[in-house]
Amino acid sequence: MANDDDSKALERAYQPSPGLGVAVSDPVQNPGLPPHRERMTDKDPKAEKRAVRTVYTLFYLSLAGSIWAVAAYMLFPIEDGSLGAIRYNNLFIGLGIALALLSLGIGAIHWSKALMSDKEFIEHRHPTRGKDSTREAAVQAFADANEESGFGRRTMIRNSLFAAVIASIIPGVALFRGLAPHSTPEDPTAGDPVVLLKQTMWAEGQRLVRDPDGTPIRAADVTLGSAFHVIPEDLAELSHHDGYLEEKAKAIVLMMRLRPEQLIEAEDRKDWSYDGIVAYSKVCTHVGCPVALYEQQTHHLLCPCHQSQFDVTDHAKVIFGPAARPLPQLPITVDDEGYLVARSDFTEPVGPSFWERH
Ligand code: FES
Repeated sequence: MANDDDSKALERAYQPSPGLGVAVSDPVQNPGLPPHRERMTDKDPKAEKRAVRTVYTLFYLSLAGSIWAVAAYMLFPIEDGSLGAIRYNNLFIGLGIALALLSLGIGAIHWSKALMSDKEFIEHRHPTRGKDSTREAAVQAFADANEESGFGRRTMIRNSLFAAVIASIIPGVALFRGLAPHSTPEDPTAGDPVVLLKQTMWAEGQRLVRDPDGTPIRAADVTLGSAFHVIPEDLAELSHHDGYLEEKAKAIVLMMRLRPEQLIEAEDRKDWSYDGIVAYSKVCTHVGCPVALYEQQTHHLLCPCHQSQFDVTDHAKVIFGPAARPLPQLPITVDDEGYLVARSDFTEPVGPSFWERH
């Protein structure tokens, strides 16, 4: 609540400055401060007590949320690598952390709005330029430090210090580089990102199966306008310890059916689709998010990360957004039993284009 001195200071602060504004016709009147409104907690001791109770209850709730998050980490381990275990682990830890942070935030806001001092005051803006004397003193302090440390004079020490500081970054770079795949004498292309991203589990005759349950898909099951999230059949049989996630990250595909006449197909790709069914890599060519939003009416695929859009009718060409190249197409056909199969692997690397591609 503002006292008398503060109120006078407020009035003075909101008076137009002499010689400014009023002399020239001032189209905007200073509205001043709205009248101060007392809060319930300032007028009613019962309301104040209630607010105190609410705030500490929220803080205890936050404490419980944090404890629950730690307990959930132990109660729902992910060591067996199954999808169900990972889901429960993420869900319950997430709920605990959400409860902890939300209660803490709401409690702090309620505390400041309902209970902390409600006094109004004006903080005047001062010129940001320091006084000349302060600036001179700062320059002098630097000059003294330079003189006393010999930084400018002792060039050998200074230069060796620069070299040492720059070199100290190198171990970090080398360690991070170690995380990337490397070539070996047996496999000289193992560290080449283009080769890594070009080879996926798709191969001639590999069935397209539903992600994640692994059931194969007949062409007849793919109705007009529908879209399927698809993985290679062999991938569905891999366990998490055999690199399931790494392989899946490269091989995920979105498949949909259009009317064949809606497809604009290049001459050399006419047999890459089957009766209007087309399949494209789901890994965005911008920075690799899953492109999973299919707009049935426009036949556009949308990447939710930075809104790149791809035209399914036209080889998934980019029609909007930062992606630089179309989504790679998976050539498909059907086998003797009518199940959809790949004709080959992708013919180009999947995913982002941050390196030079061959
Ligand atoms: S990752 Fe898809 S638009 Fe950026």
